[in-house]
Amino acid sequence: MRALQISAYGDDPLKVLELADIPEPGEPGAGEVLIDVELAPLNKHDLLFIRGAFGGPPAPTVVGNEGFGQVAAVGPGVANVKVGDHVLAPNFGLTWRERLIAAAQGLFPLPDGDRLQFAQLGSNPPTAALILSEYADLKPGDWVVQNGGNSGVGRSLIAIAKQRGIRTISLVRRPELIGELEAAGADLPLVDEPVAVEKAAREVGEGSVRLAVDSVGGDATATLIQGPSGSGPPPTSSTAPISRPGGRACLISSARCPKCCAMRTS
Ligand SMILES: NC(=O)c1ccc[n+]([C@@H]2O[C@H](COP(=O)([O-])OP(=O)(O)OC[C@H]3O[C@@H](n4cnc5c(N)ncnc54)[C@H](OP(=O)(O)O)[C@@H]3O)[C@@H](O)[C@H]2O)c1
Repeated sequence: MRALQISAYGDDPLKVLELADIPEPGEPGAGEVLIDVELAPLNKHDLLFIRGAFGGPPAPTVVGNEGFGQVAAVGPGVANVKVGDHVLAPNFGLTWRERLIAAAQGLFPLPDGDRLQFAQLGSNPPTAALILSEYADLKPGDWVVQNGGNSGVGRSLIAIAKQRGIRTISLVRRPELIGELEAAGADLPLVDEPVAVEKAAREVGEGSVRLAVDSVGGDATATLIQGPSGSGPPPTSSTAPISRPGGRACLISSARCPKCCAMRTS
């Protein structure tokens, strides 16, 4: 079967990726399923994998963190999914191939829906959902500020926050995205420039910005975390929206964490 694999880990995917003919995965064993992979997205995550940032299996190896497909066979003892069900492949499933065997545990049948959206559910939306759940005790009406507002994580965060009644300030670097993000439910999309802090201050008023989410790093971080935990410089009127005592900062930028992009707080 066909697969996209890397001959070696390396910084330039075009130099190490190759279309290969690899052996069929065979029959699923006890507790396993065979998945026909129908869609496998390309996420920044995959580029980090190719660079060796996650310490993957020895090369050559198939690539691909996320995937969507149909169960083609089930091994003994599998009851949670059946042949014909559509499922998400487990994360780190090495999905850039036509078929794979995965543990059945954790798989679940998907309803009818947009297959392209399903295929991208494994990484960015849960990251956004966990950021909103795990880093601050957010209540409806609270504000969250993020940069990279138009990223996959950023758009997921906007949508999930909306559902939970949490309001979002989303910084982007391109003005043409403002209308698009508003249409997607962003409460306050702003171009990341010095005046953004004042604009946010006016909008938030006496409200509370409880969480700053950084997916860019470098200078952009300073805009977000001027003392969000209360340990930084005292708030001034222009930094008040993102400096409320008791706020938290969540850095998800791999620029700050080159070996893994696991979320961490500061
Ligand atoms: N911890 C985890 O489990 C986890 C999971 C998924 C993602 N992440 C992290 O979350 C972040 C977003 O990932 P994603 O896949 O959602 O990203 P994405 O969809 O690829 O979007 C990248 C974003 O970064 C912006 N950007 C790129 N370079 C920039 C720069 N120099 N200055 C300002 N903005 C810049 C882009 O803006 P333009 O559109 O203007 O180019 C875009 O908004 C990344 O840091 C990623 O590593 C972490």
